Amino acid sequence: MEKLFYPNREEAKKARIRNICEYQELVEEAKEDYEGYWGRLAEEKIDWFEPFDQVLDESNPPFYKWFIGGKLNVSYQCIDRHLESRKNKAAIIFEGELGDKRVITYRELYYEVNRTANLLKNRFGISKGDRVVIYMPMIPETTFMMLACARIGAIHSVVFGGFSADALRDRIEDAQAKLVITADGAYRRGKPYMLKPIVDEALSKGCESVEKVLIVERNGEEIEYIEGRDYLYNELVKQESPICEPEIMDSEDPLFLLYTSGSTGKPKGVQHSQAGYILHAMVTMEMVFDIRENDTYWCTADVGWITGHTYIVYGPLAVGATTIIYEGVPVYPDAGRWWRMVEEYQVNQFYTAPTAIRLLHKTGIEEPKKYDLSSLRILGTVGEPINPDAWLWYYNEVGGGRCPIVDTWWQTETGGHMISPIPFATPIKPGSATNPLPGIMAEIVDEVGNRVPQGEKGFLCITKPWPSMIRTIWNDPERFKKSYFGDVTKDGKPIYFSGDGAIYDENGYIVITGRVDDVINVSGHRLGTAEIESAIGNHDNVAEVAVVGKPHQLKGESVFAYIVLKSEDSLGEDVELLKEINSIISKEIGAIAKCDEIMVVSGLPKTRSGKIMRRILRAIAKGEKINQDISTLENPAVVEEIEKKFQMK
Ligand code: PRX
Repeated sequence: MEKLFYPNREEAKKARIRNICEYQELVEEAKEDYEGYWGRLAEEKIDWFEPFDQVLDESNPPFYKWFIGGKLNVSYQCIDRHLESRKNKAAIIFEGELGDKRVITYRELYYEVNRTANLLKNRFGISKGDRVVIYMPMIPETTFMMLACARIGAIHSVVFGGFSADALRDRIEDAQAKLVITADGAYRRGKPYMLKPIVDEALSKGCESVEKVLIVERNGEEIEYIEGRDYLYNELVKQESPICEPEIMDSEDPLFLLYTSGSTGKPKGVQHSQAGYILHAMVTMEMVFDIRENDTYWCTADVGWITGHTYIVYGPLAVGATTIIYEGVPVYPDAGRWWRMVEEYQVNQFYTAPTAIRLLHKTGIEEPKKYDLSSLRILGTVGEPINPDAWLWYYNEVGGGRCPIVDTWWQTETGGHMISPIPFATPIKPGSATNPLPGIMAEIVDEVGNRVPQGEKGFLCITKPWPSMIRTIWNDPERFKKSYFGDVTKDGKPIYFSGDGAIYDENGYIVITGRVDDVINVSGHRLGTAEIESAIGNHDNVAEVAVVGKPHQLKGESVFAYIVLKSEDSLGEDVELLKEINSIISKEIGAIAKCDEIMVVSGLPKTRSGKIMRRILRAIAKGEKINQDISTLENPAVVEEIEKKFQMK
């Protein structure tokens, strides 16, 4: 049995949840009276304009509603309500990659967000329900924009800055956004990079719904400026009033959309609600990060992903914490950058992705030793499974063997943490997210919905609706139902299927084994293989393609493509083909989805009905032996061919 790491007893005494019994009590409370548990938290945590009169409406599964009749405003929840007791407290500490710094207090945040909200409303005519696409770097203004949308009831859709013009256009068009907010660019690896030209390109290819573009000046590089369409934020915003009354929002009004990858080529606009989302963000800030009044909290994610939404912006601000925003990469100017910042800002909670830990472990194994990291109390990871090597280095060298690591499992669709250790209560071990949080009914089940026995692989499901769950896929409720809710039911209601495989280990802990669908996880970026396949299919000489994830030491998984060519004669070197393919992927999706390797094969393994057997291709890429009977395939010989080629690689 693998060793468990126990929380420090003295530290545990100061924590919100001090031991496993206190955790268990909450679990029991939620089990006994599910609605009572969530209703109690919603009453305690949210400053309601009008109270809700029903906790959960399950009358139309899987379209669940929470806190019916409640009225609130999420920007009020994140800012206004702190003004009395925290007006001069740092809400945001920003550090640019080149070392420039900015501290924004709650009072200043209030003014900035109100001015921005007024600008969106008055100058751009944005009102409740309008969609606003935010394509921004990691700077404080990105937060102002999100909160300003929340203030006036507009629905933001933040698009990660690493996406290409084509990907941006698809997301703008799907949401029918009225306004795009961007920046000239920012800094990365010590140099300016540009965003505005990518917006220009996206808009040149459609996006009829977009009326205006708002540009934040960050790096001062020259940009093209289209009169009547483009507006510069920095000057304009100063002219607006610092007071903007928050729009009264219903619990179930949409707060934001965030596009994520699924099994088909088209990204899904995951729609989140107001009250359920912000409640879960707050509850988990307290339970999982044990946030306290004087803490400085740092999540290194990009705001373009759900982690950035919930755990850089909404969660920390809703609980009145100090949140750090860092613009750049972890290895600029060297692999000690983050640890230097932890020392300088006396960071208490540090939350990052395994891929970053692996990178810093590899390129700067001695770096943590050079800094005083004694302020750290809790370390966190998210986004992918973490390997024991990286976990132990993080635990011992970064956390000094003192800090519990919360390995948090969740998804864009879940809105917030679902399975995670409670830092000072749960004994932890590398590679396990341990137990579901109180009030989260996560279970590993087989095909028919029965709980799997310990050690047996199954599907990770959530058997009851939870407050911060995805409400629907924007404009596509049928796809929402089909993607997450199959035929398996519990108490007559369909259960949520996460797309992940998992097992219960010898401690009864949940260990995530990875996706069981056609989604791969490259450096913590969630990518659909179908999206990449459709991009590669646009190469003139590609007849057929199947993309799978291949285990990768640093990135977790890398993109691996099996390719059948139209004409082998015109085949250049594989390297040339790889370059051409990657340039298409960069254009259609973004550099994050580039292939690491390709393999030209004479055919893809198919069933007699013509379905590509991806399971076989995935197994080969992972270096696993093929145990299943392949004789029933249409073309069993190609499996041997591919296996041989692999061995030669
Ligand atoms: O496969 C799981 C993996 O990331 C997927 C969700 O990706 P995304 O929606 O982009 O959200 C990432 C940040 C919340 C999951 O289906 N994943 C997430 N957290 C973990 C994880 N895999 C293993 N361990 C985790 N802690």
